[in-house]
Amino acid sequence: MSEQHTAVVRPSGRYAAAGATAVAHPNIALVKYWGKRDEELVLPRTDSLSMTLDIFPTTTHVRLDAAARRDEVTLGGVPATGEALRRIVAFLDLVRDRAGLSVRAVVDTENTVPTGAGLASSASGFAALAAAAAAAYGLGPDATALSRLARRGSGSASRSVFGGFAVWHAGAGTGAGADAGSYAEPVPAGDLDPALVIAVVDAGPKAVSSREAMRRTVATSPLYGPWAASSKDDLVAMRAALLRADLDTVGEIAERNALGMHATMLAARPAVRYLAPATLMVLDSVLRLRRDGIAAYATMDAGPNVKVLCRRADADRVAAVVRGAAPRATVHIARPGPGVRLLNAGGR
Ligand code: PMV
Repeated sequence: MSEQHTAVVRPSGRYAAAGATAVAHPNIALVKYWGKRDEELVLPRTDSLSMTLDIFPTTTHVRLDAAARRDEVTLGGVPATGEALRRIVAFLDLVRDRAGLSVRAVVDTENTVPTGAGLASSASGFAALAAAAAAAYGLGPDATALSRLARRGSGSASRSVFGGFAVWHAGAGTGAGADAGSYAEPVPAGDLDPALVIAVVDAGPKAVSSREAMRRTVATSPLYGPWAASSKDDLVAMRAALLRADLDTVGEIAERNALGMHATMLAARPAVRYLAPATLMVLDSVLRLRRDGIAAYATMDAGPNVKVLCRRADADRVAAVVRGAAPRATVHIARPGPGVRLLNAGGR
């Protein structure tokens, strides 16, 4: 850490030369993260498991600027404001604190995923920001430390550090001592050739943030405890099904885990409902596909969009059926994608 740190500061005597660019992809959880036990450290109540996608990358450039009085952040060329800016600055503060530096940063982010629509833009966003900021500030974390760091920006970002399938260990306890135990790592999978058909039925921002929705669910939903308990069993069974490349069991577990998560929210007071009429149309089409002998299983996150897990060979047919069920949806086909990657360190 100190070597890289010195390299950042010394050569020019100015921080302005230091910069790094990172690319990360979103991930979709097959066993969901829903509920924190420590809000400040973003420590979850349960383990979760996801597939990183090969589409919708986020590219983030972080440049240190010794002359700047505050962080400057643009998202898709537009200056960030409000909550988005506050979260990014808080994250940069954490990185600065670890690096022992106070210099401000210029952050440019290009997101290709619809922001805030339950498509995990925060996962790719904070994984890319964590990698770029850690490099720019000279932290040089290994993959596990990077996963822990990304977690602080957004829980699901801990998993986007890795490609393919990743499990995020909840760890135990609360407070600073518990930080080390909560990180993601790759999960071995057999010879699966999966696709996720993503039906974006509404690309608009969600009405309730996942942060607030989780808080409310944990605090008020009588279904939360039972779901969290069954999620533990889901994770064990999911790992085994992945290892033996059993797509049907992977899909069955993913679908029941997601529907259960949405049930916990529907039972919250007041209820959180992300599912829209078009969501249900797509869910019906998934049942029809299964009746016709196609392995297709749905999962939904903090939004109305549906991701349908299927075999790669069936993806075009699944996409066509989903389009028929929700004609106004935009449909994408994703496959397992790579972990976060640093494009360079030192400039753009
Ligand atoms: O990381 P967050 O705060 O965006 O929460 C994501 C939660 C879900 O997407 C609903 C589930 C998950 O595990 O990704």
